[in-house]
Amino acid sequence: MLASPVNPSDLNQIEGTYPVKGRFTTQILGPSQPAVAVGGNEGVGVVRAVGAGVGDDLRVGDWVVPRRAGEFGTWCTHAVVGREQVTVVPEEWRRGVDALTVGSIRVNPSTAYRLLRDFVDLGPGDWVIQNGANSGVGRALIQLARPLGVRTINVVRDRPPAEYEALERELLDLGADLVVRDSELGTDSFRAKMRDKRVSLGLNCVGGRMTLAMAKYLAQGATLATYGGMSRQPVVLPTSLLLFKDIAARGFWMNRWYEHQADDVERDRMWQSILKLAGERRFVSQPMQTVEWAQGLPVDEVQQLVRRAAAWGSAKHAFVFS
Ligand SMILES: NC(=O)c1ccc[n+]([C@@H]2O[C@H](COP(=O)([O-])OP(=O)(O)OC[C@H]3O[C@@H](n4cnc5c(N)ncnc54)[C@H](OP(=O)(O)O)[C@@H]3O)[C@@H](O)[C@H]2O)c1
Repeated sequence: MLASPVNPSDLNQIEGTYPVKGRFTTQILGPSQPAVAVGGNEGVGVVRAVGAGVGDDLRVGDWVVPRRAGEFGTWCTHAVVGREQVTVVPEEWRRGVDALTVGSIRVNPSTAYRLLRDFVDLGPGDWVIQNGANSGVGRALIQLARPLGVRTINVVRDRPPAEYEALERELLDLGADLVVRDSELGTDSFRAKMRDKRVSLGLNCVGGRMTLAMAKYLAQGATLATYGGMSRQPVVLPTSLLLFKDIAARGFWMNRWYEHQADDVERDRMWQSILKLAGERRFVSQPMQTVEWAQGLPVDEVQQLVRRAAAWGSAKHAFVFS
């Protein structure tokens, strides 16, 4: 492996609350030990050797990403996988792009790409509102909306003033049109800012109170697409929004798209266009705290990293392998 992030869904998988389970095997610790699964569902690896039965569409040196979540754990230095378990990322797509960006393309940027295309027919000048705007998906969405001319209103959680100002600056630099903290959502000054904006799509990865406050700004007939539940609170919508505004509440799951909606051509188009933006420095991955994993990294250091990633919530972590 070259790089592999620690995503919220990886942690949910370990908790047992994610529908995709890890593959338990005795091949790692040996037949006399309990079966274990390796964590991590996305990442990028470089092919070191190709088995005898594999065709010539896979070569030593190719960069590959897992085809599906749950196929093999990516938090490892080496893996032996079937040809059908990986997708090659051609060299010409990843020119000028680092391993961490390639290794984290499958989940967050792809989710943002689909959210902008699969729910509402968005065009230049249209407005989208999203919460968790500083998340990996949120940051990707801000940057992917830009080339479409789609404008973004970005809700983040409250934090101390200096921290908020720095975050607001960061998101504006990425291309956000408006940034707002959740405590401001109900204020007269924010309402005034929203008066001339018709918001046809709301994107929710939080749930609970923050979603309710955001949904009030959706226009007649708009869609609220939920793709995450960071607050672990349910999505509650007032009856009036459903009755008088006919808001459609929908859900999105990237894995479902890969499994049932994707064809290879559309997936390749998506990845190629994101990587092209990355190569042109018009797309940057979210900031991640990286841990260098040299072969032989003690298992308790790996455990500590995963515990930190689970406890800190918002800081994204990733393994880079040397
Ligand atoms: N449906 C799909 O296919 C799909 C795909 C990708 C991601 N997701 C989901 O999308 C969400 C974001 O993923 P990510 O990898 O982009 O996240 P991330 O980069 O790790 O960022 C986490 C985000 O959640 C916020 N957050 C953390 N705890 C929260 C809480 N208790 N209440 C409200 N907000 C909270 C953080 O805000 P602060 O900075 O304020 O802490 C931050 O904005 C996750 O729920 C993930 O599972 C779903």
